[in-house]
Amino acid sequence: MGLKLYSAPSNIALIKYMGKTNSKDNLPTNTSLSYTLEHLRTFVTIEKISTTNDSNSNLTDQWQPLSQSEFNALDNSSVNTNSKKLYPLELSEKGKSKFLNHLNYLKDLAQVKDSFLIKSANNFPSDCGIASSSSSFAALTVAAMSEFQKLSSLELDLSPSYLSSLSRKGSGSSCRSFFSPWCAWQKDRGFAKSFALKDLHHLVLLLDVEKKEVSSSEAHLRVTTSPIFKQRLDVIENRYEHLVQAMEKQDWPLIRSICGVEFEEMHQLFETSVPAFSYRSDNTFKVLKELKSLEATYVKTAPLVTMDAGSNIHLLFRSEDLSLAKQYAELFKQYNSINSWDGSHE
Ligand code: DP6
Repeated sequence: MGLKLYSAPSNIALIKYMGKTNSKDNLPTNTSLSYTLEHLRTFVTIEKISTTNDSNSNLTDQWQPLSQSEFNALDNSSVNTNSKKLYPLELSEKGKSKFLNHLNYLKDLAQVKDSFLIKSANNFPSDCGIASSSSSFAALTVAAMSEFQKLSSLELDLSPSYLSSLSRKGSGSSCRSFFSPWCAWQKDRGFAKSFALKDLHHLVLLLDVEKKEVSSSEAHLRVTTSPIFKQRLDVIENRYEHLVQAMEKQDWPLIRSICGVEFEEMHQLFETSVPAFSYRSDNTFKVLKELKSLEATYVKTAPLVTMDAGSNIHLLFRSEDLSLAKQYAELFKQYNSINSWDGSHE
């Protein structure tokens, strides 16, 4: 049988996962809610490089970037994206071992003892500062468990909820990539949320990509030292409920305002941690200010603005506001950006 191509999308949180109650299992301090970014994906292949009864073999699992030509040779017709241009992942040694450790965890679970070669790539540049860990770990989990089912004597559970909970152990936010377009994550469980709002247009402005970053895993630990962390824990579940209600009412200005408070608070946590750190540069503040003043012009239709643990600014527009989304892309064209509507991530 030929090699199979697996893939999973990235996601952007509107209520953030920041802080853990258990670092080993990536259990979050609070409920989060995300929108799935179907156009930003990781692709994965997995092939066996040794068998358990091969006594000469002491091979260990390996990872390599998936090339465009390998991708083109595979059946990618069912892949749900309009951009099939690949950007090879550049995994650091630390990144590689986190990825392969997760593979090992899945092998133990499925009682599979062979060694594997994993190849992966994203359809967005890996140096652009968009966290690819959610799509990477989700794609690895789907690929590994689906292939292990062919090798294992066990009956493996391949349901999205179970795969989501396994993926969470590799990287927390990846558990939300299994449900689309909306996913909530509460304690050890990711699940779909259904809202009338869908088919949002996504534009991410790539600011200061060269800026040195504190990894999000490190950020999760550090925020607990911030004097405002406890205050956040007191209000965050209410904020989540408030956002769900605003989504149900499709009250776009209210949705925007709750999400604005939320990402601002996360960045203030970073900036008041001990030691403090920040992902926001003068450039970030300048663009955030420009977005605020545009919001005064487009009171009903302006985009939802949010940021992850990086300097990039994510904008989500309602489906009926595509022409405004294109206007914003034009207004901010001095910055590199990636959008969900024109099928190219050049
Ligand atoms: C800021 O999922 O990358 O993007 O579980 O340690 O791998 P680990 O962290 P990760 O954290 C992402 C945090 C965030 C907010 C979010 O996606 O909710």
